[in-house]
Amino acid sequence: MVNDTPSDTSSSALSAGKQNIPRHVAIIMDGNGRWAEKRNQPRIMGHRAGVEAVRGVVEGCAKGGIEVLTLFAFSSENWRRPKQEVGLLMELFMTALGREVKRLHKNNVRLRVVGDIKGFNKALQKRIAEAQVLTQNNTGLTVVVAANYGGRWDITQAAKSLAIQVQAGQLNVDDITPERMADGMCLADLPEPDLFIRTGGESRISNFLLWQLAYTEFYFSDILWPDFNIDALNDAIASFATRQRRFGRTGQQVEQNNKVCETEC
Ligand code: FPP
Repeated sequence: MVNDTPSDTSSSALSAGKQNIPRHVAIIMDGNGRWAEKRNQPRIMGHRAGVEAVRGVVEGCAKGGIEVLTLFAFSSENWRRPKQEVGLLMELFMTALGREVKRLHKNNVRLRVVGDIKGFNKALQKRIAEAQVLTQNNTGLTVVVAANYGGRWDITQAAKSLAIQVQAGQLNVDDITPERMADGMCLADLPEPDLFIRTGGESRISNFLLWQLAYTEFYFSDILWPDFNIDALNDAIASFATRQRRFGRTGQQVEQNNKVCETEC
């Protein structure tokens, strides 16, 4: 586990310029329930505090020049939670969307929701659609909220779409490639996540972006999501900046390429 104590922002990675800043950050916001339980409060208070943390991180990413922030708000498996918590989470999404979307729009943020939206009630589906339409032409940070999302669902959707094309005689089986699979998945038009963060002390992916995280750098933090602030984000980005991304090549090849780039790119 790394960096439980956020550092000083004066030398922050986000304010240090664009070099080695991830284009796309994807986050599992874990620890809301425990945050509330530690304070003898109902779990929903942790989720409410979680929304405040979302606001801070969105602002930090927008100011820091990050292009895409993907947040895992509700997994396909979260329906297994107590009925009351699920209901309260839905209410919270409704209120948060209603309250935050104008501010996001004002700040040139584009909002997108990915996942099996049909699983939500009609009012929430409508609010999601309205928020997406309102912000669709914004050119700043793209915030992707993964809601009723599962990585296996995403991959299955893409496979089904290719199977339909094969069945209709529009595609040969031999023409099925990883690129064609990727095209059928959520986030296909966005850069793949460079940095994955999970808060709350757990070290697993929990059916998040299974396909898209193939070459992503992972960062696990013990900080409970409501306490995850701009300093904590900076620590994650500073850690990312020290990583050498090889994408299957050797370290030597990467260094050579960087040297060539210094003079020619
Ligand atoms: C995991 O913590 C968190 C969730 C399942 C919900 C996340 C939702 C928010 C942060 C608020 C809404 C977000 C948006 C984008 C509107 P947990 O409940 O599993 O915590 P625990 O592991 O401590 O029990």
